Amino acid sequence: MNAKNLKLLYEGKAKKIFEFTENEVIIFFKDDVTAFNGLKKDSLSGKGKINKKISKFFFDMLEKENIPTHFIKDIDENSFLAKKGKIIPLEVIVRNYTAGSFCKRYGLKKGIKFKNPILEYSLKNDELGDPMICKNIILSLNLIENNLLEKIENYSLKINNIISNFLLEKNLILVDYKLEFGINNNEIFLADEISPDTCRFWDKNTMESFDKDIYRENKGNLIDKYKEFLRRINL
Ligand code: TMP
Repeated sequence: MNAKNLKLLYEGKAKKIFEFTENEVIIFFKDDVTAFNGLKKDSLSGKGKINKKISKFFFDMLEKENIPTHFIKDIDENSFLAKKGKIIPLEVIVRNYTAGSFCKRYGLKKGIKFKNPILEYSLKNDELGDPMICKNIILSLNLIENNLLEKIENYSLKINNIISNFLLEKNLILVDYKLEFGINNNEIFLADEISPDTCRFWDKNTMESFDKDIYRENKGNLIDKYKEFLRRINL
């Protein structure tokens, strides 16, 4: 993509957003990888295009199941065209098994399956380190209207079923994941990315990770694992 003439609207830790038209943006997936709110940082050649490919794959799958997403069409290896909108400053985290910060918070070992999926929220704010926030506070601070938050919850759980079922056929489990949503003309849509940077994917039998925990926990070559994930889902 020739980004020279495009206006950079926003640069995050793993993506850049360029203005394209009044209603469209180009999302460019960088090779940068970070963990612990940017404390650990590297550039891993090829990561951007892998995450773009996986995100496009899941967005296509979700659109077919009537989940509105920001994905419009592919641009090149590292970028796609997406709907412009206001990003709701919340991270929605859905958990099926104990892992990551949940284990730390409650002193639990990883890999315990929850009776029902758990839905958590964080306030999107790097300076504050994305603090957890509950529904009550979200509504009391008027961050979003109740009916829209309910829509977000419904979509988030529906996404859980769709992706979990797909992965199970590949003998993989969706342990947990983070979603972000946008809004345009009062319509909610799934934004951001769905990739091994923002999800935990494990082998169902061995609990081997195919996600960013490889990098967070220095467990080997992240790109090799992401490529193995691509093979496992036949991409
Ligand atoms: P956590 O266990 O660290 O709270 O992470 C839960 C899920 O959310 C996991 O799949 C990784 C994802 N995640 C992000 O995508 N971005 C983040 O900044 C964090 C902290 C987690």
